[in-house]
Amino acid sequence: MKNIPSSVLEVLRRQARQAAARSHVPYSNRPAGAVLLLEDGRLVPGVRVESASFSLTIPALLNAFTTAVAARRHDVVAAVLSHASDAGEAAFMTATPAGTFTPAGPDAFVRPGTGPLPAPAGLLSPFLDVERPDDPGAGLRLAREVARRAHVPASNFPVGCVLETAEGLVPGVNVEHEDWARILCAERNALGTAVTYGLTKLHTLYLSCLRDPDGTPCGACRQLLTEQAPALVLWMDRGAAPPASSRPEALLPGFFSGGALRKPAL
Ligand code: THU
Repeated sequence: MKNIPSSVLEVLRRQARQAAARSHVPYSNRPAGAVLLLEDGRLVPGVRVESASFSLTIPALLNAFTTAVAARRHDVVAAVLSHASDAGEAAFMTATPAGTFTPAGPDAFVRPGTGPLPAPAGLLSPFLDVERPDDPGAGLRLAREVARRAHVPASNFPVGCVLETAEGLVPGVNVEHEDWARILCAERNALGTAVTYGLTKLHTLYLSCLRDPDGTPCGACRQLLTEQAPALVLWMDRGAAPPASSRPEALLPGFFSGGALRKPAL
């Protein structure tokens, strides 16, 4: 087991715990965060985003990796959690988009063959470095460009989206895993990034399924979108035809909000 130098580990643990404070955990009241270390020292945080449907909960590590892939950063060298890793997290780390990682302590993983780890620097920006789109067509062109970042070894079905928030444009792509229960769609990728970075004003989502001119968000994405941003304006790419628009609450009428769930006391 390769060890992470304690000075680096302490910084990463602190960042993972800071991320955990932004997690969305109304059903468990158990905050969870993760942070990835990139080759240039940049850090990519991820938080746990619980769903009223429980099984649709986005784990912190998956959230961090999908943020990195949407930013075209596959150069992850280490990952540290705010908590001791469980069997599911260990299984995820055997086949990440950045390859196989090995445990480096109860809460840490490193990529085998990595040389000395870089000194941790600031957080990676979650935003696209482009102007805001003026119209739906421009937003969908951006979503198509973003879709090229998708990690889709299983489906070869790239999906890209751009979530417009008050603070900036957040990209999302689908990120697959050899265990299909551990993949994340493009829409939930962008949503998870927004929650991680504390972005709350989610205005518009531009969505393009490059290989399907009738593409719409899947049921799981509809559920998460209704929980986090029911009135968001959704623009869906229709290829050469004019784009279609809707809202999550219209795509999932009578959705389960979780409002009546009993939440454990702190
Ligand atoms: N996918 C999305 O990214 N968004 C959707 O709304 C539909 C499905 C992805 C998930 C998986 O990588 C592939 O498309 C096939 O389902």
